[in-house]
Amino acid sequence: MNIQFEKAELKHIDTIFEWLRQPHMMEFWDNTQEHKDDIMNFIHGEKQHYFYGTTKYWIGSIEGELYCFLLSDILQKDQELSDVHRENMSKSGHTIGLDFGIGNTKFLGRGLAAQTLEAFMGFYCEFVDPLVDTFFIDPDPNNPRAVRVYCKAGFQKVGTYEANAGAFIGQASDLMVKRV
Ligand SMILES: CC(C)(COP(=O)(O)OP(=O)(O)OC[C@H]1O[C@@H](n2cnc3c(N)ncnc32)[C@H](O)[C@@H]1OP(=O)(O)O)[C@@H](O)C(=O)NCCC(=O)NCCS
Repeated sequence: MNIQFEKAELKHIDTIFEWLRQPHMMEFWDNTQEHKDDIMNFIHGEKQHYFYGTTKYWIGSIEGELYCFLLSDILQKDQELSDVHRENMSKSGHTIGLDFGIGNTKFLGRGLAAQTLEAFMGFYCEFVDPLVDTFFIDPDPNNPRAVRVYCKAGFQKVGTYEANAGAFIGQASDLMVKRV
């Protein structure tokens, strides 16, 4: 299975926004204008304002066909983090928060999600930041499909927290951690 990742670029934007309009994505993915503006700012290399302004956006292809969307963000000690985030951050390396969706419905429900996420973490450590040794991901506890996929990809739940910013402010999420 040939899975590749690249930074989101202008040529991907129609595909990304079409994916974000899919009902299965809208159910659990940030659907705010701020998030969409952040994607555009990232793509255009302009200053980002959402969360800490450091989110990176990625797109995955399988056998040459675009199918998934990911975001990554580095966690830093001076950020406003929950206790459970702070307690589980890497002590000596970098900690990266991820989010993930398969937008292309042709590839949904085909058992590709966990292997895609594992491939992305491998890609990230090899080509983006070799100092990463900890990944975080934070599914809605009412999204058992995502929780199942993250367990299969090697994440373990370490606690729950309430989002203090963004589309899910005030909502409880699980924090799941994978050490690499
Ligand atoms: C989450 C997501 C990436 C998973 O991709 P997918 O193609 O549906 O997942 P897969 O087919 O690879 O695997 C799904 C697994 O969950 C299981 N599953 C499906 N529905 C489930 C449910 N309601 N409860 C528990 N497990 C469930 C499947 O049986 C399968 O596990 P198995 O391989 O052990 O049988 C995809 O559904 C998606 O993009 N959803 C919208 C965005 C989203 O929710 N992102 C997560 C934000 S945190």
